[in-house]
Amino acid sequence: MAAGTLTLIPQYGDESHMRAVRLHEHGGPDVLTVEDGVDRPTPGEGELLVEVAAASVNPVDTYFRDGSYEPVGLPFTPGVDYAGTVAAVGDGVEGFEAGDRVFGTGIGNAGYQGACAEYATVPTDRTVHLPDGADLTEAGAAGVVAVTAWRALVDHAGLDPAEDVLVHGGAGGVGHAAVQIADAVSAKVHTTAGPEYHDSVSALGADTVLDYGRDDLADAVRDASDGGVDVVLDHRLDDYLQFDADVAAQRARVVGIGENSPDPGFTDDGAARSKDVSYQFMSMFNTPDLRVPLRGVAHLLADDRLSIQLAETYDLGEAGEAQRAVLEDSFLGKLVVTP
Ligand SMILES: NC(=O)c1ccc[n+]([C@@H]2O[C@H](COP(=O)([O-])OP(=O)(O)OC[C@H]3O[C@@H](n4cnc5c(N)ncnc54)[C@H](OP(=O)(O)O)[C@@H]3O)[C@@H](O)[C@H]2O)c1
Repeated sequence: MAAGTLTLIPQYGDESHMRAVRLHEHGGPDVLTVEDGVDRPTPGEGELLVEVAAASVNPVDTYFRDGSYEPVGLPFTPGVDYAGTVAAVGDGVEGFEAGDRVFGTGIGNAGYQGACAEYATVPTDRTVHLPDGADLTEAGAAGVVAVTAWRALVDHAGLDPAEDVLVHGGAGGVGHAAVQIADAVSAKVHTTAGPEYHDSVSALGADTVLDYGRDDLADAVRDASDGGVDVVLDHRLDDYLQFDADVAAQRARVVGIGENSPDPGFTDDGAARSKDVSYQFMSMFNTPDLRVPLRGVAHLLADDRLSIQLAETYDLGEAGEAQRAVLEDSFLGKLVVTP
């Protein structure tokens, strides 16, 4: 080499690499480490490369991490929800171009590496544009919780404006989105939360907020709803299947989203049968076309009728702590990772 020749040594941080959270074996939160120099993915047919602005933290991310859900290929980057800016488009993509603001959900599982990284490839069939006026970080935290709440209340329960709905756990990720979506539908919204969140959940649109720990909870729900609720969103099936029937109005619809299976000992004491109560259990991952509820969520975000409450923001190096917190800590709304 001639004296004085400048040799460029490829550095991580160049256009072919990125920082990403990865796990190389299943386990607890400490298997998550942030790595420099991970290959930046190339978008395939029907895919976008998104520069990630925010990736939310959901209980389901922990199930993929610990191996208790469907198997994922290792090494693996978590993060089911994403929002960011399109950096490149793959072959055959129509309707998206570099620079577009987008958000979506449904990666970070067996099919796709997740969004806890500087970049992620995402399929266009689960991505929508983010309207002006909607915040990218909130959108990155919205996917699973808002789509689940939308699917449960709008698609499965068919919630009508004149109906009473009970949302268990209205301060939680799904719960606080459900309170706002039910309010946007003009339903009468009854919910439960720890005492420290009552004022905040009321401000999100709940007509009634009750402490979920009170002994007379069923009576309080029936009193608030003039005898019984038409729709229940239940995220703790073991705790509430019989309760749901007890507070139900005639022909009520109960939508169950909890990961904990119904108690195998659950035998209705007669309340569900006598009221013709319908039970449906659902998974957001079964949504036939995720773009449909995502567009509804985008509309509500842009219209200020849905606001994702960001309880804590973490950087990539804190992804393990964020996944610990999502299962163990109490907070209002969502935890989010911003690369
Ligand atoms: N089927 C699906 O498609 C689907 C989709 C999304 C989520 N999920 C599941 O739904 C559950 C909730 O998810 P998330 O993201 O909303 O979790 P989250 O943000 O942790 O919210 C859980 C909420 O439940 C509250 N809670 C605790 N004990 C309660 C009780 N005895 N009664 C009523 N509420 C109680 C918590 O309040 P404190 O803060 O007071 O503890 C918290 O606000 C998880 O099991 C998740 O895996 C399923």
